[in-house]
Amino acid sequence: MSESSEPPVQTEDKPFPIVVLISGSGSNLQAIIDSRTKLEPVIEIRAVISNNPEAYGLQRAIRNNIAGKVVNHRDYPDRNAYDAALMAEIDSHQPQLVALAGFMRILTSEFVNHYTGRLINIHPSLLPLYPGLNTHQRAIDNGDTEAGATVHFVTPEVDGGPVIIQAHVPVLGTDSSNSLSGRVLKQEHLIYPRAIHWFAQGRLTIENGRVFLDGRISPKQQVFTDEK
Ligand code: GRF
Repeated sequence: MSESSEPPVQTEDKPFPIVVLISGSGSNLQAIIDSRTKLEPVIEIRAVISNNPEAYGLQRAIRNNIAGKVVNHRDYPDRNAYDAALMAEIDSHQPQLVALAGFMRILTSEFVNHYTGRLINIHPSLLPLYPGLNTHQRAIDNGDTEAGATVHFVTPEVDGGPVIIQAHVPVLGTDSSNSLSGRVLKQEHLIYPRAIHWFAQGRLTIENGRVFLDGRISPKQQVFTDEK
């Protein structure tokens, strides 16, 4: 990640081109699809790319007249070859932003560096807590009283990049990993489209590894509590 990054330049009447990467259900993809025209600028999802041919999110793409592409990791000899093919597919759509939405692959630093400042991810925990998998069970096992989700810029460190927005939810005494993940997922569907629109509006900058919205860090703007 560079020390500072310029916001994207948006031409007023053109939709903002993004590509979304998925591996599974694609409920976050659906939230992005549903948000496309709700804020300015209009978001154009140029393609949805999955490493998993069975991903249900591909059907969501097709239903919404979005190109659904498969770049299957099983077709490539190693991670470098796969990431090179993935980059070629993404770049053919000329996105200004690449959004990982449940894309279950570790990415090479070549890939991450190629998209510095225009690659974002959603993670189901309050990073820096619980990078990696099984975040909800880990929060429950540790007796946490709150959990949440984080949208962040992607850096070569897995789940370690600068935070754009977080949503907090309570952990209830009766929670299972399933019930907690459902509560968190509802918040993911709110914060991910919001972060994407902020980016498209050119309102996000990164300086010294921190994200600024409209030039300032404000807890109110960066952190959302449980919204209905
Ligand atoms: C979400 O919990 C997201 O935070 C994580 O993977 C899950 C994807 O869910 N990275 P979906 O495919 O968007 O329904």
